[in-house]
This record gives sequence, C-alpha cells and structure tokens, in this order.
Amino acid sequence: RNAIAENDYKARGCSITADEIFISDGAKCDSGNIQEIFSTDNKIAVCDPVYPVYVDTNVMAGRTGTYDAGKETWSGVIYMPCLAENDFAPQLPKETPDMIYLCFPNNPTGSTITKAQLQEWVDYANKVGAVIIYDAAYEAYISQDDVPHTIYQCQGAETCAIELRSFSKNAGFTGVRLGFTVIPKALKCGQVSLHSLWARRHGTKYNGAPYIVQRAGEAVYSEAGKAQLKEQVAYYMNNAKYILEGLREAGYTVSGGVNAPYIWLKAPKGMTSWEFFDYLLENANVVGTPGSGFGPSGETYFRLTAFGSYENTVAAVDRIRKL
Ligand SMILES: Cc1ncc(COP(=O)(O)O)c(C=O)c1O
Repeated sequence: RNAIAENDYKARGCSITADEIFISDGAKCDSGNIQEIFSTDNKIAVCDPVYPVYVDTNVMAGRTGTYDAGKETWSGVIYMPCLAENDFAPQLPKETPDMIYLCFPNNPTGSTITKAQLQEWVDYANKVGAVIIYDAAYEAYISQDDVPHTIYQCQGAETCAIELRSFSKNAGFTGVRLGFTVIPKALKCGQVSLHSLWARRHGTKYNGAPYIVQRAGEAVYSEAGKAQLKEQVAYYMNNAKYILEGLREAGYTVSGGVNAPYIWLKAPKGMTSWEFFDYLLENANVVGTPGSGFGPSGETYFRLTAFGSYENTVAAVDRIRKL
C-alpha cells in the first residue's frame, strides 16, 4: 500500500494515503462488489456500451428494475450513450443518479476523456451528491498528456469518488490476481463514511491477497519492474497501432487504440455486431468481440484487442485487409 500511495498517487500530486487503499484480488471483483455498500434503492448511471460487470452485479443485487428484452435495457438504469457523435464520451445525465460508473481508458471503446472533462464529472457528482466509481484498470496505457491517470488528479474527487485499479493489464497479473480500491476517508454519504463501510465489507467477506502476490505487486514499483511494465505496455500498444492503421487503410471506421489496448470499429455494410463476427470468423478466421454484448449502443460496433502476440496481430490484420 505504501508503494501504491507513493507511486500512483503522491508522484502525481494526489494526497491519497496508504490507509485509504484496500488491496484485493482484482478490479473485476471490486467493481462487482462495491455496490454492496450502497442502498438497494440507489440509482446507477452507466456508459453504454460498458464493461458488463457494473450492470450485471447491480441486476443481481435487485437494483435495476425490469428488463426490456426488445431494447436490451433495464428500467432502473440510467444509460449514457457513448457513440461516434459524442466522441465516445458520456454526457452528464438528465436524471440524477446516486452512483456513476466511469471507466477511462474505456473498455470496450478504448476512448478517454481529458482532465478538464473529468473535472466536470467530479464537480457534478459533488453538486448532486452522487458517488463516482472510477475504473482505471487501463491507466498504464495512457499516452496523451491531457488524459488523467487517476480521478484524484481532479479537484474535489476525494469527496465523491472511489477508484478501482488492477495489476492485470499493466503487469500481466491476470492469473496471479491483484488489484486495489481507493476510498478516501473524506468520502461520505450524509454522515456515513464509505471508507468504514468498505473496510467492514472487505474484512468480512474477503481473506486478503496472498502475501507472495502482494510482494510481487510491490516489485511492479521497483526500477526493474517499472522498466518491464513499460516494455510490455509498449509491446501491446505497438499491436494496437498496427490494428488501428491497418484497418483504417482498409477503409474501416476505427477509434481507440491510442490510450488503450482496444480498437473499436464500426461494422461495415450495415452489418450487426454478430453478423460481422460471423463474417470475420468465416472469411478471415479472426475472432473479436461483438459490440452489442456491451450494451445496446454497442450494436453495429466491434472490439478488437491488442493483447495478442505481434505475429498473430499482424496475421489477423493482414487477413482482414484482404477481405
Ligand atoms: C474495465 C475493466 N475493469 C476491470 C477488469 C478486470 O480486472 P482484474 O483482472 O483486475 O479483475 C477488466 C478486465 O477485463 C476491465 O476491462
């Protein structure tokens, strides 16, 4: 926790302390479990498309109302469409939510927002009394200067935001499992400290990340660890560049892939996400993820990942280009 506080927060000018950091086995579990400390009548707002865990865990908790199979939406969820028209960045919702899930760099679109844009969300959350659950699992992939690495770079975030982080994407801990959640002590709902609530929930239901894994996590912040991370992130971002440029040259409408290891593309010729999936599989022997799986606004989009070997990435892109 000291290494995290020092390297991820103090080094970026944020005042997060070690005792505001909760170590866990990853951002998937934390992003799914965090809703347990909120009331079941609280309303959530999510980007659409979105990492499915946020919505699904709230569905399981009974917080989302009824399902409309035609529209593939829940009556109790505020959806914030992220489409090409708005540069895949959500707009402040008309209806006031209690919890706002934001994820930047984004899965699935690979989009990011600037520090000034994120500041607007922080100001909004503080104004309406909402809590932002900020998933920064892909923080290591940020390459542009105006993109914030943590929400605590925004003024006032410690009174409205919880941040989730992962060692999976930066350091390849996907199987080893390690992550953390930051809940500042200043974050209160009325008189209730969310830090205390999560400390109780985490201590009651979670046994702690293994010592050996925590030591491996600490090594991520050593000089050698930092150099290896840089190399690994650069490797995947080189894949992302190859996909992005290759598909663009082939006439596809593509985005993402600059601050994130995901490329988001529009299915061509009016195909649905799943039609394009079948088309790619059958004609190029390439698989990707249909955008509709991430929410209704993901329909007609498709996600490609840069998390492969360079050789496979080149082979896949070259096959798509020949279609
Ligand atoms: C947005 C987002 N958050 C969290 C996770 C999961 O991270 P972890 O491996 O730390 O559980 C993923 C990975 O799929 C993700 O895309």
